[in-house]
Amino acid sequence: MTSNSMSFSDPSFLTELSGKTVIVTGGAGGIGAATARVFNTHGANVVIADIPASKESANELITSFPHPEHALFIPVDILNWEEMLHLFRTTVEKFGCIDTVVANAGIMEKTETLDVESTDADGDLLESTGAFHVIDVNVKGTLNTLRLAMHHMKPYAREIRAHKSIVLVSSTSGYFGGTGVSAYVSSKHAIVGLLRSSQVAAKKYGIAITGIAPFFTTTNITAKAGERWQADGLTPNTPEDVGLAIARSSVEGLSGTSTLVAGPFRKEMEGSRTEVMPQWLGQDIVDFFQNAFRIISGSGGYNLPSNSST
Ligand SMILES: NC(=O)c1ccc[n+]([C@@H]2O[C@H](COP(=O)([O-])OP(=O)(O)OC[C@H]3O[C@@H](n4cnc5c(N)ncnc54)[C@H](O)[C@@H]3O)[C@@H](O)[C@H]2O)c1
Repeated sequence: MTSNSMSFSDPSFLTELSGKTVIVTGGAGGIGAATARVFNTHGANVVIADIPASKESANELITSFPHPEHALFIPVDILNWEEMLHLFRTTVEKFGCIDTVVANAGIMEKTETLDVESTDADGDLLESTGAFHVIDVNVKGTLNTLRLAMHHMKPYAREIRAHKSIVLVSSTSGYFGGTGVSAYVSSKHAIVGLLRSSQVAAKKYGIAITGIAPFFTTTNITAKAGERWQADGLTPNTPEDVGLAIARSSVEGLSGTSTLVAGPFRKEMEGSRTEVMPQWLGQDIVDFFQNAFRIISGSGGYNLPSNSST
């Protein structure tokens, strides 16, 4: 166990879920479904936001909840802006406000992105549309979710006792890239980038934006690899383990923190990275960077280029 394991095993945070309203994207299956169940079991209103094809499983899931009357399925593709506007609007109409958004929906490529041997009849390399879709859903879809969540939370975030939170589900693949699943790994590194780069706005609006980085978890995404990994003695997470970590992060997580969930281990990734920075880079480089960041924040933030073509 890590030195952090004691605080991660205290379940008292569950009482804080009561009365909250949460949107879980990709909430009809796997980690999202387990997360939705944790929130519903402990008294939260839950909106399951998932693709239309998941309607049946979402409705079965809701029926199995202890408080089905406090749950709702809203079909949405997180890449579709109109559908996302509808999701957030309908949640507010139904439950009055949004306290937490779990940006969980994500996919993995079905064929190897860097297999450069798939050619057409002329011998030209085929474009990797599958990889593009992974990057679209995981990065653009999560960005849509993050921006809309912030937009709906910001008017209330500084009210007394309001705690507005957004949990971004990245992956150990957001920190390490050894599996070679290139589109997925790149997209999950992007989520860690979103977590870090969103902290300026998180502070400005008073919203806690945190991350969860699960290791191998038994769901659809890992179904093919699962049997072999388990036979080799790997202890996978259950979706419930990750759901609990997400729920904990939503009420207890300090903005900017990210929790690794790996079998029996829990580790806060971002603060620990800052701590080892001098060993990693050397104190001279750390000091150099800190001076630069002081200058940037002292001048009101990063100066965006004025000649941008977008
Ligand atoms: N299972 C793991 O080992 C593991 C490890 C690390 C991170 N994760 C991350 O956890 C998250 C959940 O994954 P999972 O393992 O539960 O997978 P899953 O396939 O079981 O569930 C993903 C859900 O997202 C939904 N979804 C897919 N595309 C969508 C879209 N465009 N709009 C709305 N919903 C969409 C799916 O319908 C599904 O219900 C993903 O972001 C994944 O990258 C999983």
